[in-house]
Amino acid sequence: MAEPAPPAAEPQPAASAEGGEESGTQVVTPWEVSGGQEGGIDYDKLVEQFGCSKLDDAMIARVERLTGVKAHPFLRRGIFFAHRELDQVLDAYEKGQPFYLYTGRGPSSEALHMGHLIPFQFTKWLQDAFKVPLVIQLTDDEKCMWKNLPVEETRRLARANCKDIIACGFDPQRTFIFADFDYVGGAFYQNVVRIAKCVTLNQVRGIFGFVGEDHIGKAAFPPVQAAPSFPTSFPHMFGDRVDIRCLIPCAIDQDPYFRMTRDAAPRLGYLKPALIESRFFPALQGESGKMSASDPTSSINVTDTPKDIKGKINKYAFSGGGETVEEHRDKGANLAVDVPWKYLNFFLDDDEELARIGREYGAGRMLTGEIKAKLVEVVTEIVERHKAARALVTDDVVDAFMTPRPMPWGELFG
Ligand code: TYM
Repeated sequence: MAEPAPPAAEPQPAASAEGGEESGTQVVTPWEVSGGQEGGIDYDKLVEQFGCSKLDDAMIARVERLTGVKAHPFLRRGIFFAHRELDQVLDAYEKGQPFYLYTGRGPSSEALHMGHLIPFQFTKWLQDAFKVPLVIQLTDDEKCMWKNLPVEETRRLARANCKDIIACGFDPQRTFIFADFDYVGGAFYQNVVRIAKCVTLNQVRGIFGFVGEDHIGKAAFPPVQAAPSFPTSFPHMFGDRVDIRCLIPCAIDQDPYFRMTRDAAPRLGYLKPALIESRFFPALQGESGKMSASDPTSSINVTDTPKDIKGKINKYAFSGGGETVEEHRDKGANLAVDVPWKYLNFFLDDDEELARIGREYGAGRMLTGEIKAKLVEVVTEIVERHKAARALVTDDVVDAFMTPRPMPWGELFG
């Protein structure tokens, strides 16, 4: 395939050169998320640093107009807050041109945590609203290399995680889930190599912060996460069409992969993937980090029992309430740092109830114990519903989603 000279490159801010926990500078990479001196993540700064765009009300209204569906709470509440060229996807959709969705998971733990549900729940909503196909990548190879897990173990975790992902309710007619160790080859691998040839070692070091001591597998991996952005990686779904746009929902930690991808795309005669990016569901301890599966005290997992959930929220969820009931009644809660309030913003569907809680708790009329009790109720309901849905996902169902299969055009875009 011809590789024309590159057009203007995507800005590629450095990964680790920005600082780190020691220097009190915020760091957001696919492997590390930590807030700056103020504690929380400064999302405006990230948008500026990464060079993406803020998602505005006009664009959300346009999504509603085009799909005829009320915007998901994650959109209405600014949880998905940034994008890259979403407008172009919407332009194409308006003209009746197809697009597909792409998202993924690095299977490093047995269970997903609630933060992982955010991109998957939102992707399901996008799939239902736009009626478009979806590919989901399980990067068992990535986690084998980064977490130093045996190949067999990450393959097993990929299958286990796949059940949790299917439990989010994806359309079996339009969804292909694949694990890298099984699927990478053929047309997909041809794209991996095409992309790899566009990126220098200096560039991956700059984008991802790799150092000389890292093994070479790390530098080789980013093209594997890039390849699903191009429809020719899925010939059983899209044949050899290069004109089908890709939209990637994810949290903003994955942005570096796709800056690299977008830089390579025009050099390969491919369309740049578009992105829609979310904030992080914070750790129980507060906004300075994202919820992480490797620290059980920071996370609520989709396998937790009602007792676990109650215990974790009551013990670890950082409160912005007053030190004493008197102080709380007097000054009210600091909603800017309060974890139960933040979690309810993600997962309490009812807008009016949420607004009422914000008013009452912020004014000190509602107590920390009361907002925590509400959160326990909301989270327990979500987790129990998820567990029930997962129990129905048999090995046969997993095989059906993971089989590369022709998807008739009518089923995909009908
Ligand atoms: P992973 O497994 O770290 O995360 C899976 C997805 O969940 C998002 N995420 C979060 N979202 C909100 N709050 C959090 N606390 C939180 N933690 C994780 C991630 O942004 C991601 O969308 N390399 C990837 C796997 C991958 C992928 C992709 C992700 C492959 N291709 C395409 C997104 C899009 C990974 O390890 O994700």
